[in-house]
Amino acid sequence: MKRRVRKAIFPVGGLGTRFLPATKALPKEMLPVVDKPIIQYAVEEAKAAGIEEFIFVTGRGKSAIEDHFDHSYELSETLHKRSKYQELAEVSSSMLKPGQVAYTRQQDPLGLGHAVWCARNLVGDEPVAILLADDIILSDTPCLKQMMEHYDDNGGNLVAVMEVERQLTRNYGIVAPGKTRDRLIEVKGLVEKPEPEQAPSNLAVIGRYILQPAVFDHLSRFERGAGGEIQLTDAMAKLIGVQPFHGVLFEGRRFDCGTRVGFIDANIAFALRRPDMVDRMRDILRRYQ
Ligand code: G1P
Repeated sequence: MKRRVRKAIFPVGGLGTRFLPATKALPKEMLPVVDKPIIQYAVEEAKAAGIEEFIFVTGRGKSAIEDHFDHSYELSETLHKRSKYQELAEVSSSMLKPGQVAYTRQQDPLGLGHAVWCARNLVGDEPVAILLADDIILSDTPCLKQMMEHYDDNGGNLVAVMEVERQLTRNYGIVAPGKTRDRLIEVKGLVEKPEPEQAPSNLAVIGRYILQPAVFDHLSRFERGAGGEIQLTDAMAKLIGVQPFHGVLFEGRRFDCGTRVGFIDANIAFALRRPDMVDRMRDILRRYQ
């Protein structure tokens, strides 16, 4: 029987060293793409996919994320008094409802698998979505929603996948693919950050997952993988052959906001989609050609 996916984990404990000094006092997830913080794109995508409970795995210095999804009475008051109703609506719509959100801390930087494991008690014995906020996906149907549609048909475990250049496999979890039907690819193996010569394909896992709770049993073993870290990929690999496991070749364009260039690319792409900015943006971009 397929159980509904109600909860999502957002691992946001990372230090964001690539964005120093910007991230010295500001969580990298709060850097804006146009006028919305990176984390809000992931939260909105989860909401659009029907997620009802939002679990953030945070760390020291990340309290701005909690404030962002909470009431700001002074701000709302002031906007109201000044009749800035559109801004007020923007601020209110970014809030998460009482009891819908939980924060827990990853006390040691032991890897993505460890961050996910930190949320185990908040998830309990049910399937869960995981969204890595660094990956922003621009698409007609939000990426997690595309995956939910496949989940409704097949259940089991799903990861978002896309093709990457061979020489880039060392940056990703890579899928050993089996049978492919439309956009659904059977996953026969998973390797974290293989060198191009060792990579079983050029199909990379992008930061969207729907996983069964059995993954927590494997994460609990604390086995170290690539880079000496506890890898989510390794725990997921243990589910293959035991439970259905598929990759979803999602429709859409992915931006890697974990890198400076990817982050700037995302800002340009999202600004060009804004009717109030597009003409001016095009003028500006022409100057750089
Ligand atoms: C993480 C995962 C990796 C995945 C990637 C997607 O790596 O470990 O499997 O392909 O996210 O963005 P990271 O980017 O944290 O090194």
